[in-house]
Amino acid sequence: MTTDVNATSSENTRKSRSASVRTIPDEGRVFVFDTTLRDGEQSPGCSMNLDEKVQIARVLEEMKIDIIEAGFPIASNGDFEAVREVARVVKNSTVAGLARCNKADIERAWEALREAESPRIHTFLSTSPLHMKFKLQMEPEDVRQSVIDHVGYARNLCDNVEWSPEDGTRTEHDFLCRCVESAIKAGATTINIPDTVGYTVPEEFHALISMLMNRVPNIDKAVISVHCHNDLGLAVANSLAAVHAGARQVECTINGIGERAGNAALEEIVMALRTRSDALPYDTAVESEHITRASHLVSTITGFQVQPNKAIVGANAFAHESGIHQDGVLKNAETYEIMTPESVGLNKSTLVMGKHSGRHAFKAKLEELGYTLGDNAFQDAFKRFKDLADKKKDVYDEDIVALVDDEVVRVKDRVKLVSIDVIAGTKQPQTATVELDIDGEIREGASDGDGPIDAIFQSIKKAVGVNPHLQLFQINAVTHGTDAQAEVTVRLEENGKTVNGQGADTDTLVAAAKAYIHALNKLAVKREKSEPEAMSA
Ligand code: KIV
Ligand code: ZN
Repeated sequence: MTTDVNATSSENTRKSRSASVRTIPDEGRVFVFDTTLRDGEQSPGCSMNLDEKVQIARVLEEMKIDIIEAGFPIASNGDFEAVREVARVVKNSTVAGLARCNKADIERAWEALREAESPRIHTFLSTSPLHMKFKLQMEPEDVRQSVIDHVGYARNLCDNVEWSPEDGTRTEHDFLCRCVESAIKAGATTINIPDTVGYTVPEEFHALISMLMNRVPNIDKAVISVHCHNDLGLAVANSLAAVHAGARQVECTINGIGERAGNAALEEIVMALRTRSDALPYDTAVESEHITRASHLVSTITGFQVQPNKAIVGANAFAHESGIHQDGVLKNAETYEIMTPESVGLNKSTLVMGKHSGRHAFKAKLEELGYTLGDNAFQDAFKRFKDLADKKKDVYDEDIVALVDDEVVRVKDRVKLVSIDVIAGTKQPQTATVELDIDGEIREGASDGDGPIDAIFQSIKKAVGVNPHLQLFQINAVTHGTDAQAEVTVRLEENGKTVNGQGADTDTLVAAAKAYIHALNKLAVKREKSEPEAMSA
């Protein structure tokens, strides 16, 4: 059961159809607010296009994330369109859009969100002495008045309004209390306290949330949320301390991506609450079995690899190397495992498919891994699976995930790889010849280079006739063994615009060529749209 916090303050000018989240959660229920598509995308070098954002949003919705922050609509046309598309396709999660405390931002956010089943405007304004003086150059009372005016303005458009005092943890307490009280009076239904610079520590943050709970007279009319950055590696600990103090919404991202050192990692928050429900008697609605898949999709799209020892989603998170540990786990998994691999979507069956597996088995495997593909996408994926099974005797779950995610991220490619020939080895020079299909026309490029990868990239550039700057080249083996697929990420920059391209193949050189071509395709889309400069919050 939930309690409507604004049942008495409805206004007929409001157009929101939102019903699900403008409520106070049951005792112990914590709303999960995912900001992978907004704060996560603000990670340096991380940019996602519309299709990629929609893809991630769909997985988040399947995971039963309560609120998906889809972007910052005024930041660029691309951001606006992505928020609007996410708002259109997502039906079961609330979709939020970020806006500074000004009318133009709020109107643009509402324009992007208005078709959502359950929209939320998230508006923010700095309240710390440092930010007010140097960033805003505003007096505290003018800041508070702006909060009142703009939260009220947002609330006239949408029933569901969140307000954040940016740099909340470095804000003077009396002033924070007054701003929070005013924001709630003006119609905010969620108050989010950000630790914008990742400065606080758990006890202090617990005390801050308790202080707000005790001192703000109308605090029971809003959900308290927290938004912690990880500059000191304390984002998850701080978020959990806040939940202990009464916060009932946590803002976080998949794999903890985000500005600078990132945000609190969603998978860590969810699994800590689930695994230690004895010490932390709170729960979320998140279906944790989707975590591994979401993590892989986000790292494929962003090119941000997950460190092997990362909690919950690192490659080693459930691996037992030492003999003593292996022996213990074989006798009783609980000896060294505090949660099961299955609970985060890691399947027990490691060896699954091979070249004799048919369509039915492949479909069943996809379903087991959490994918539902349309007919065309399924046929493409099946063909790629068969090609892979011809090259590789054992096809593991990880191979199939890589194969499907690889397919998902390259739907509208104008440039396609037809063939590639490479001369590598110790005898100079290393050369490459590529054949590309560009809008249906076959073009060739040939070049030598400092090594085979360089030769491939140079020959692709010649064939396409572009010269972007290579910022990142990264290879990851999908599974073990010399026949493992290589997943390559390439980051390219052209005139200040950055894109990530991905490619997977059993041949590392082919994977590199695919990744480079994928990035070029994305750059071409950016060029066509020629967006205004992106902004960050
Ligand atoms: O870190 C921060 O303060 C933010 C706000 C916009 C919530 O991202
Ligand atoms: Zn942030």
